Amino acid sequence: NIRRVTAVDIRARKGGEPIVSLTSYHAHTAAIIDPFVDFMLVGDSLGMVMHGMETTIPVTLDMMILQGQAVMRGSKRALVVVDLPFGSYEESPAVAFRSAVRIMKETGCGAVKMEGGRQMAETVRFLVDRGVPVMGHVGLTPQAINTMGGFKVQGRSEASAEAVLADADAIAAAGAFAMVVEGVVEPLARAITERVPIPTIGIGASPACDGQILVLEDMLGLSPRVPKFVKRFGSLAGMIEESVSAYAGAVRDRSFPGEENVYKPKT
Ligand code: KIV
Ligand code: NA
Repeated sequence: NIRRVTAVDIRARKGGEPIVSLTSYHAHTAAIIDPFVDFMLVGDSLGMVMHGMETTIPVTLDMMILQGQAVMRGSKRALVVVDLPFGSYEESPAVAFRSAVRIMKETGCGAVKMEGGRQMAETVRFLVDRGVPVMGHVGLTPQAINTMGGFKVQGRSEASAEAVLADADAIAAAGAFAMVVEGVVEPLARAITERVPIPTIGIGASPACDGQILVLEDMLGLSPRVPKFVKRFGSLAGMIEESVSAYAGAVRDRSFPGEENVYKPKT
């Protein structure tokens, strides 16, 4: 019986050895990555990655719960964090608490993540005070794509950088155990990391962050297009093409199924 990493363990890693994390949506990939990551995020990016949606806006609480259950079944060691999807938490602290409770009860995960800064600080405090560990998410927040006018790097102007710093301060002060810092200019990610007392998890941010996260399919080389901040550590799309091409050839020339793949009658 392996003990799961907890939100409290992650919180204690501020300024220490970098925190390793990836997104995870499926039981099998969760099992493969479990020994290597400190936490895995069931991100609402699953709408785009698994379902081909253009944004994360259409993702529902039911979708997050279904994939959260799969990831919990597949993993046993890493902390599992599940995203609160657009529309499931912004209205009020009470609405956010109800959504977070559904996620925690129905998946068994150890924490939730929500996007937003100063405007969500009261909600973060409400949840944390009632037993829900919250990971924040500041900078480029994809659920706000329609008010930001696109997936745009944040903090390029002084005013924009000040706003993200104020958001990071507010989320940390509200009791979040860590925060994702996404899509900001490098010096801003560094400044946030130096300033807040909780771990920062960078994506399109800075090597100075207390940890890093990437979308698993992006770093495996499975996603057709990836942003500049992604490094492809593998080339899974090519491996799938090769395998499927070999399978198609073997079916067509009847070399598959072979002797070893068929059942013999009992004699
Ligand atoms: O949904 C997601 O994958 C995320 C990470 C990129 C931080 O929120
Ligand atoms: Na997300």
